[in-house]
Amino acid sequence: MTKLTAYRGHILSARADGEWDDWPDGLVSVDAAGTICAAGPWKLRRETGRVVDLRPHVILPGFVDTHAHIPQMPACGAHGESLLRWLRTWIYPLEAAFRGERARAGAEAFFREMLAEGITTAALYASAWPDGVDACFAAAKKAGVRALIGPPLMDVESYRDDLRRARRRTERVLSEAAVLCRTWHQPRGRLRFAFTPRFALSCTPELMAGAAELAARYDAPVQTHLAENREETRLVEKRFGSRYLEVYRRCGLVRPGAIFAHAIWLDDGEWRALGDAGASVAHCPSSNLFLRSGTMRWRAGARVGLGSDVGAGPSLSPFDVMRASIATGACTDPAALLRAATREGAAALGFPGGCLEAGQPADFVVLDRGIVVPPGGPDLENTRDLISRIVHRCNRAAVSATYVDGELRAGATGPVAGRTRSCLRATRTWASR
Ligand code: GUN
Ligand code: ZN
Repeated sequence: MTKLTAYRGHILSARADGEWDDWPDGLVSVDAAGTICAAGPWKLRRETGRVVDLRPHVILPGFVDTHAHIPQMPACGAHGESLLRWLRTWIYPLEAAFRGERARAGAEAFFREMLAEGITTAALYASAWPDGVDACFAAAKKAGVRALIGPPLMDVESYRDDLRRARRRTERVLSEAAVLCRTWHQPRGRLRFAFTPRFALSCTPELMAGAAELAARYDAPVQTHLAENREETRLVEKRFGSRYLEVYRRCGLVRPGAIFAHAIWLDDGEWRALGDAGASVAHCPSSNLFLRSGTMRWRAGARVGLGSDVGAGPSLSPFDVMRASIATGACTDPAALLRAATREGAAALGFPGGCLEAGQPADFVVLDRGIVVPPGGPDLENTRDLISRIVHRCNRAAVSATYVDGELRAGATGPVAGRTRSCLRATRTWASR
């Protein structure tokens, strides 16, 4: 008989039909492989097995960050200026140094931070150095997260000094990416390689088309930046002679599973075209605020996930990202934002999870009810108000524990700690094993 663990607490999870599962005394039952085998009200429990009693705390699916840059963490919160100057002055030098021991230490710190913020799944950019990419994958594997990762592909104005002098630069960048993909990509696994043309201004059409071709050949996703900044968008139109999205479309990058970050300077038809192609938008409101890039209009058509865009975003915190969207008026509905930060984000990246349902991986966070609900607040309230409190009041301190595939990967802290530790001691699910 398989060993089951039931996590008992206040379960909240976005459903496929647009509603929410909200069970104040609920359970998520997890098998030995880390898969959810049942979720529902506690009183309907059928399984036997170990119980981790987390009441009255809130159990939520792990957060999904659909866009962030691993090497850029040290830049968070400093040097705010407009995109192109910021990249050349601060970001390219930082990424140019992201290799060897610095990359190993930086990547490990990034994933520790990611799990502490409650993020279990992410789409990430490494540095353009192949050994920087290896360091990111190795650290992601060690941390146990779900991630798609790729080097920002650049054959125009690359910060790699070896490429500046190289002949057949485009072929070399593509063949390095293919080698990395063959090394790390597991199409059904926790770690996937993403072909990642940085943005149109750092790529020749040949590089973008080559990346799209390789993505199709290896069944791998693509990710890039799209229409983030006005000056950038104008320069793309001038260099390529067409709208930004059309540049990508012609190169074959507008394809199923593609993730386009920012998507600010697009029209309604372009949003529909993204959706029709099966592509998604990574909405990065805290970054858009920091670099003063503009306000994305959340239109119908394409799926939308949330992205911290660290280091243009000042933190990885999904709560900061959701509140930035509200503050800028991009989306003022807390439920839509929490759904985008969980269920929609996972779907955008093509990963399972993002919801607490049978058959899904047990990726979840425990939120401290003492932070979710203010002193004197009600014991029970409607789903809409609970979501509103999570979005408006929570922060990193509220994330008391983070689980991926049923394993405790960060925490347990705060009031959850004692109980979680004593419940789990018997089976040792700590990440550091
Ligand atoms: N466009 C091209 N590269 C980047 C990057 O690193 N960050 C952001 N925010 N936009 C970009
Ligand atoms: Zn970015």
